[in-house]
Amino acid sequence: MCGIVGAIAQRDVVPLLVDGLKRLEYRGYDSAGIAVVVADSVRRVRRTGRVAEMEAAALAEGLGANLGIGHTRWATHGGVTESNAHPHISDGELALVHNGIIENHEAQRERLRALGYAFESQTDTEVVAHLIHHHRKQGVSLLAALQATVKELHGAYALAVIDKRDPATLVTARMGCPLLIGLGEGENFVASDVSAIVSATRRVIFLEEGDTAELTCDGVRVFDASDAQVMREVHVSEVSLASLELGPYRHFMQKEIHEQPRAIADTVEGILDAGGFDAALFGKDADAVLADVASVQILACGTSYYAGLTARYWIEAIAGLPCAVDIASEYRYRSVVGNPKQLVVTISQSGETLDTMEALKYAKAQGQDKTLSICNVPESALPRASKLVLHTRAGAEIGVASTKAFTTQLVALFTLAVTLGKLRGRVDTAQQADFLNALRHLPGSVQHALNLEPQVALWAEKFAPRQHALFLGRGTHYPIALEGALKLKEISYIHAEGYPAGELKHGPLALVDTQMPVVVIAPNDALLEKVKSNIQEVRARGGEMFVFTDADSSFSASEGVHVIRTPRHVGILSPIVHAIPVQLLAYHTALARGTDVDKPRNLAKSVTVE
Ligand code: G6P
Repeated sequence: MCGIVGAIAQRDVVPLLVDGLKRLEYRGYDSAGIAVVVADSVRRVRRTGRVAEMEAAALAEGLGANLGIGHTRWATHGGVTESNAHPHISDGELALVHNGIIENHEAQRERLRALGYAFESQTDTEVVAHLIHHHRKQGVSLLAALQATVKELHGAYALAVIDKRDPATLVTARMGCPLLIGLGEGENFVASDVSAIVSATRRVIFLEEGDTAELTCDGVRVFDASDAQVMREVHVSEVSLASLELGPYRHFMQKEIHEQPRAIADTVEGILDAGGFDAALFGKDADAVLADVASVQILACGTSYYAGLTARYWIEAIAGLPCAVDIASEYRYRSVVGNPKQLVVTISQSGETLDTMEALKYAKAQGQDKTLSICNVPESALPRASKLVLHTRAGAEIGVASTKAFTTQLVALFTLAVTLGKLRGRVDTAQQADFLNALRHLPGSVQHALNLEPQVALWAEKFAPRQHALFLGRGTHYPIALEGALKLKEISYIHAEGYPAGELKHGPLALVDTQMPVVVIAPNDALLEKVKSNIQEVRARGGEMFVFTDADSSFSASEGVHVIRTPRHVGILSPIVHAIPVQLLAYHTALARGTDVDKPRNLAKSVTVE
């Protein structure tokens, strides 16, 4: 969702801001803008649509300065209009960008109106600009005005502010939304995501909740929620520039699908380096936290939730533990019954999905202290709020539709299931060796599945003109059917449903006709015969079937039944391998329909609002 970048330097910062905003485009947005302080004035350019359009306007205006802020906005309060786009300006003097939601904006708006402020937008953000301006009028510094303002705000924010009366300072504040400071040589930066500034510096400070900071060219001062100056650790970001570039690929989604053998190998390597299924993989307190776990509660959203649904089968079968999986936005508003012996597992690519974060807070408030985060962004909010962490090593994921994050999450969750099983004495040494071996061979099997791309692309041509599709699977492949349907609807805009194949007769069969393609994930496992019966039920109604099955299954193509064979049955890790062809099907169908694959309409990569 919204993205922030800001810079103070001895060189022109406009190219830095534009480059940063382009790198934040993947998060999803509908308008963009920058503001700079130049020659004692604040100048601003905003546009709805792409950053490139805003960039062209900035060029046309000859915008250049040593101090500036930029923003990509994903509309929440107020429609997609130029006047609602950030930066917002107060009285022509100060400009501000904001991520998050100010919950008490209406009360503040009334107060500011009474003080004589006029509003140009429908956003909650504009009240913050005027509030800072109001505090500045009391004769305090820009930083002090920001610190006074944030004490009057309820809600979540990451803020960056510039003021024409103070052309050597950029101030910033954080509560509930990610924000970091980049440390350069004679220049400093602020950003909501390290990718925005990584071409300028890798040295970063992650601001804590309630922090404010003041940046000049020469230094950075950070203050905690009580305005006391504090030292925050400096990290060196490992985000690689290559993971942020498209390279020879047409789309990031295509690149990320093809990166999966490497992403999985890197994640598996982390497990092998730790000596296998060792509790220490999850952090130094893991032995104590995992010792007497009585059940597992998984919380996540979107694709990460489907990873959780797959994991339930493993956790029950391998660790012998009851496992519940909840959509975070549902869990956080239920009257859940807390259990201090329950392990609460959050799964997230970004680590900043608001509902997952709030669900974790709620789980903890019910006295559940055993918390584990499976996350792809190490310094993000969820791992920081969890006792234990397992870092998926997918590398930066840019395509809005998650692919390599999903399959690496599955690797992490499988590892969790085996580790819990081992701690509970249910997995002996020989089984551990078998499971490790399966993980070692996984990147190769995933590569085999990727080699099916030309066959899947041919199927995609048949899907492109359709309006609806059904995805069926059983057991661990049922969540893969759900994920296949989600991928297709997200990026091709074809309405798709995932169903457990056994539920066919309880509803979806009514939809089946010659216009409804039915995808079946049918590996050669114990449920194959049952899936075959389900397939007959569809065929008898004239439905066209598209079946992914293993090389060693007895399944064969016939009239109206198309078959693509995944190379061989890979046992318990089969759902990971079968995730690949459904990703490819969605990707090629979207290509055939000409949609914006990496930035599907209305969607965002990181959902940081409710
Ligand atoms: C958004 C993204 C999805 C992602 C979901 C959960 O909807 O578009 O790709 O699965 O958020 O995000 P998370 O970062 O928590 O995994």
